[in-house]
Amino acid sequence: MWRDMSPDEFRRYGHQIVDWIADFLADPRQFPVLSPHPPGWLARQLPGEAPVEGESMDQILQDFERLVLPHCTIWNHPRFFSYFAVSSSGPGILAELLAAALNMNGMLWQSSPAVTELEQVTLGWLRQWLGLPDVFFGMIHDTASTSTFHAILAARARAAPEARSDGVPSNLVLYFSEQAHSSVEKAGLAAGLGRKNMRLVATDDRFAMKPESLLEAIRADRAAGLRPMCVVATVGTTSTTAVDPVPAIAEICEREQIWLHVDGAYGGHMAVVPEYRHLLDGVAQADSFVVNPHKWLFTPIDLSAFYIRHPDALREALCLVPAYLRSPSNADAVNFMEYTLPLGRRFRALKLWFVMRYFGQAKIASLIRGHVEMAQRLAQTLQSDERFELCAPHPMSLVCFRLRGSNAQNEELLERLNRSGAGFFSKTVLGGRTVLRWSIGNIHTCWEDLEAALATLRQIATELASGQDPQITLDSVYEPKTS
Ligand SMILES: Cc1ncc(COP(=O)(O)O)c(C=O)c1O
Repeated sequence: MWRDMSPDEFRRYGHQIVDWIADFLADPRQFPVLSPHPPGWLARQLPGEAPVEGESMDQILQDFERLVLPHCTIWNHPRFFSYFAVSSSGPGILAELLAAALNMNGMLWQSSPAVTELEQVTLGWLRQWLGLPDVFFGMIHDTASTSTFHAILAARARAAPEARSDGVPSNLVLYFSEQAHSSVEKAGLAAGLGRKNMRLVATDDRFAMKPESLLEAIRADRAAGLRPMCVVATVGTTSTTAVDPVPAIAEICEREQIWLHVDGAYGGHMAVVPEYRHLLDGVAQADSFVVNPHKWLFTPIDLSAFYIRHPDALREALCLVPAYLRSPSNADAVNFMEYTLPLGRRFRALKLWFVMRYFGQAKIASLIRGHVEMAQRLAQTLQSDERFELCAPHPMSLVCFRLRGSNAQNEELLERLNRSGAGFFSKTVLGGRTVLRWSIGNIHTCWEDLEAALATLRQIATELASGQDPQITLDSVYEPKTS
């Protein structure tokens, strides 16, 4: 009698699920990118209590298709144009299956040597693909938010080693641009800096940090007796993919002896493409850097690669080894738990290793290049229609645009576009104006997807101009798969 699912049953349902995934990946367009159902639709259909007796896999899978799937926002969809569009590719999906089967926890080298060593190897490979020097020590986190939090903890340990014994001093200052991701401010809050010690540095007309404003803020803080601790620069901001002038910022940080962390969570991947490598100029001088392969390296969520020049600063901030976790020391046996807030570590490196080996640098570069080219073509197409305007430079694969009109009209455009099923779009606010974001990053996205969404966009613009009610509804563009 098997305590777990029997091997035969596992094999049967495993094949069934892999077949389902293969069919899904063959054409994700058969499903709507957004759930057509209202909030609470799924929760209301599920029992409030878990079963006392087990249920059959047939029943569970049926309910997955009948209830869960129709209420998904499908991120792995070619018409997902929202936030930053991402992909979970075949090799990454298969690696996740293996990682779950082995179920290892790589908190220490000893607790699974392969988890630790594959993490070191894959992050070394990725560092080379990005053209960064080998002075960086790499580790994997779940998200860029966690990576940036670790950067700030390391910067804090360097600027104020007394924080470990006495608590956080009240005069440490963190600098980032007004376009930086909210995870930076959140990391500062979590590190105990307090909002009064965070400086939102002004940006120029391309939404990039102004180095002269940074320097001014640092000087004013020093004059007021404060301690500038860390600057966070961004390569590829969330709203518009703006690129802060990292070389100039690095020079200031070097001169002022301030920790420089670079957030390349999305934009860092551009450096895999040889002709875009210059976008990471200056990062080699940084103290730490984050890039998220789960954003634009075709790796399933979650995987954030964090690089740090002074890993000892993290040990100063976080190392605490209870008796039950002590293990023989060996220079080749890194214990990642000494450098990180979480103790447990998933075998995330396996999926990155699969993805990097399966595609290779040339294929990944050509996929990213293809996304950038599609975005450039999209920008030209939008620009050629006088009803729309582009709202920011588009150096990567994101196009920010709006209807020439009021914020309310643009909100309505977004609402109708998302309800139409043509794709899932998001928005931002630039200079007080509502702007739509069209992000291209899914491995399956092709120009035909953009053309189809463009046709809907134009039709909705026409409807809005004539004050018509929406003519396109989800049902008219999407015919649900019947099984
Ligand atoms: C530039 C940038 N940094 C950080 C983040 C936060 O990423 P994560 O969800 O991995 O914490 C994002 C999210 O989109 C981002 O665009």
